[in-house]
Amino acid sequence: MASTILSDCSSSSAARILPFHMIRSTNALRFRCSVFLHPKTPNPRQIHGKSLAFTPVAMTTETSAKVIDGKSIAKQIRDEITSEISRMKDEIGIVPGLAVILVGTRKDSQTYVRNKKKACEAVGITSHEVNLQEDCTEEEVIKYISGFNNDPSVHGILVQLPLPRHMNEQNILNAVNIEKDVDGFHPLNIGRLAMQGREPLFVPCTPKGCIELLHRSGIDIKGKRAVVIGRSNIVGMPAALLLQRQNATITIVHSSTKNPEEIIRQADIVISATGVANLVRGSWIKPGAVVIDVGINPVDDPESPRGYRLVGDVCYEEVAKIASAVTPVPGGVGPMTIAMLLSNTLESAKRLHNFK
Ligand code: GUN
Repeated sequence: MASTILSDCSSSSAARILPFHMIRSTNALRFRCSVFLHPKTPNPRQIHGKSLAFTPVAMTTETSAKVIDGKSIAKQIRDEITSEISRMKDEIGIVPGLAVILVGTRKDSQTYVRNKKKACEAVGITSHEVNLQEDCTEEEVIKYISGFNNDPSVHGILVQLPLPRHMNEQNILNAVNIEKDVDGFHPLNIGRLAMQGREPLFVPCTPKGCIELLHRSGIDIKGKRAVVIGRSNIVGMPAALLLQRQNATITIVHSSTKNPEEIIRQADIVISATGVANLVRGSWIKPGAVVIDVGINPVDDPESPRGYRLVGDVCYEEVAKIASAVTPVPGGVGPMTIAMLLSNTLESAKRLHNFK
């Protein structure tokens, strides 16, 4: 496939795009983001009247990487879940239930929760939703969690993150019964994930989705060098633990890492979860490596009705020419996160009812 585009990945105007601590805090990881330039942009050196510090380069993309189609893999998984749920209902009369607690009015969290609810309905999981005011107390959230812990029709409990700043996330996540911790964020589940010979009851959904994409794309992990970029509790850290459990040799690159590009260039598998648009450049990637892009980052797009579009952490058009396989954004890891949440909820209901 060949197409002429304007380079999307060479700007250094990061601060306009995302509130990400790494942009300010490091010069070790030279996090650079891009401003999307549509070919029709009248003066590509100026967008919204602001000057850009680079010259866009017209170039030809020769994509060689296999595109890992998360959308179709997630659909296949949802279909498998739908038939398992139907079998369970027919055989023992149980329908899995997921409780989702949202605190506050963050638009991104509202969208995620709405999508989770829709996905539950589509596969036959009953969803229970609680929306709490931004200024509610930690005790109120914990009261709802306790109610769901004791409700036999609820098999999974998810508290959408991030929580408002006045709340102690640790107290809230600790309150979730580990047998219903479908997010896998309870410290006991994370601790078991980190230990050899121990099994977590649940594995966090986004990293589990990354591994599932690798498995279902026939990509071996054992013995490979893997680099995870980012060390968040939700993605980076558990992704590294999961890769290690799959017998990869892992390195985590973060905002204090020296020579990150050099380290990333040694990796056979790269998982990027930084929240910085177009951070990972083609020149950072070893030829033939597999690249999983967890980022979903809004960048300005005057041509889009919303005024922005979503891009990954990875400069896709550069990396697709170097890697052997890469996930797109959107349509890569995103749909897998919800598929894994449904899978964890089904697994929980099966375990709680001893259904094989
Ligand atoms: N916020 C961003 N990702 C997640 C997730 O996977 N689970 C929860 N609970 N909150 C999130």
